Amino acid sequence: MNNHTEDHRQHSVSSPEIARRYLAFFRARDHLQIAGTPLAGTESTLFVIAGMQPLLPWLRGEAPPPAPRLTTLQRCLRMDDADAVGVNGLKLSGFNMLGNWSIGDYGRREAIDFARELLSEIGVDRSAMWVTVFGGDSVSHLPPDDETIQQWRRAGHPEQRIVRLGSDDNLWTMNSPGPCGPCTEMFIDRGEAFGCGQSTCRPGCSCERFLEFWNLVFIEYEWQRDGSFTPLPLRSVDTGMGLERIAAVLQETPTLFETDLYAGAQQRLAELAPGGGDSPQQQRARRVIVDAVRSALYIGLAGVVPRSDGRGSVMRRLIRRAARQGRILGLDQPFLGELVAPLVERAEDLFSPDEQRLAPQVAGLLTHEERRFARVLTTGLRLLDRVQPESGGLVSGEQLFLLHAERGFPADLAAEVLAERGIAVDWPGYLAAMERHHAISRVSVRHATDVTE
Ligand code: GLY
Repeated sequence: MNNHTEDHRQHSVSSPEIARRYLAFFRARDHLQIAGTPLAGTESTLFVIAGMQPLLPWLRGEAPPPAPRLTTLQRCLRMDDADAVGVNGLKLSGFNMLGNWSIGDYGRREAIDFARELLSEIGVDRSAMWVTVFGGDSVSHLPPDDETIQQWRRAGHPEQRIVRLGSDDNLWTMNSPGPCGPCTEMFIDRGEAFGCGQSTCRPGCSCERFLEFWNLVFIEYEWQRDGSFTPLPLRSVDTGMGLERIAAVLQETPTLFETDLYAGAQQRLAELAPGGGDSPQQQRARRVIVDAVRSALYIGLAGVVPRSDGRGSVMRRLIRRAARQGRILGLDQPFLGELVAPLVERAEDLFSPDEQRLAPQVAGLLTHEERRFARVLTTGLRLLDRVQPESGGLVSGEQLFLLHAERGFPADLAAEVLAERGIAVDWPGYLAAMERHHAISRVSVRHATDVTE
């Protein structure tokens, strides 16, 4: 983003406005708007990963919901895609999910009609829209979701833009046992310029041509620990629309990182690193940095501080990764805290007044953590420059382990740096080195105890 004028021309509908219109649409259709749950407010995962997670007791029929129709905006954090952030312009670690739910109330027909009506109200070009549906498979042993296909046809969605996929794509679960069900995902075809050029390129392809922005899940099963699917007492609808993704659709940006949500931080970053360059690696660095700072901000606002374990370790990992990406842009002094204010200012309505007040403190945490890590980073990067693969083409796990044990340089970060040079790590060797080290420590402790006794 070069200047404010360009931002405002491009960002015709702001992200907070999209969120406001989504929630108002569903409130006007008898949905009760509930507040998002704090990001760290979950027992089963470190952070909330989907808007439906706080609703689990209601979806399971274990407790009555406050209303059968609900809507919310939920902050989420998913680290499973974190390595792809930046390489792929459509992936994020922290994001905002808009959702509407029917807890045992409406079904597929209404969910699809609501979606189509809202999309035309907010100006999504439905002629470029594709949908995927669950085609059944032998992995889950669940039947194809013919009813959803029927509903898309009835609603007038063209047959040739309905794609049937298997459970990897269209059986939504929390990646762990729990309520789940077949889903139907909506995509925008952004054209060949964004595609991989393969004749097989369709929704579900890993390239960036088809942008998935909304998922309607028909929660009907409990995925049991033994792998079976048992029917839930209620049939519910759980939807998740990525605010950043719908913003990219409506603002017609090439990636999520040019949307209004990141524009201020990108601009500040350009000011801090004016000679940052525009190579793919430098472009990726900017994306990783703004994603990591926003995610660390979200975590900090949930009351977490950087630590070596639990939620704090995720925050620390994000900060350290971003600090290292800063070096690619020539930034060797703490800078991450500088990006917090622009992230908040450009999306004020998405932060509560308390959070807006707290944001400078979180910025201070980022700076403190970055400063503490600076020397380790400098030394570690210098040592890594000299690391070469061994005869098997891999870097020895022992070397990586020692870099961590003796210099405090995290192994995952070292692996990321090496991967950029096309070098992979001998992970089994790393684990073996760790095991050896622990065994030696145990013996030494025992020996020391024997001596003192
Ligand atoms: N629970 C729906 C989604 O995360 O896509």
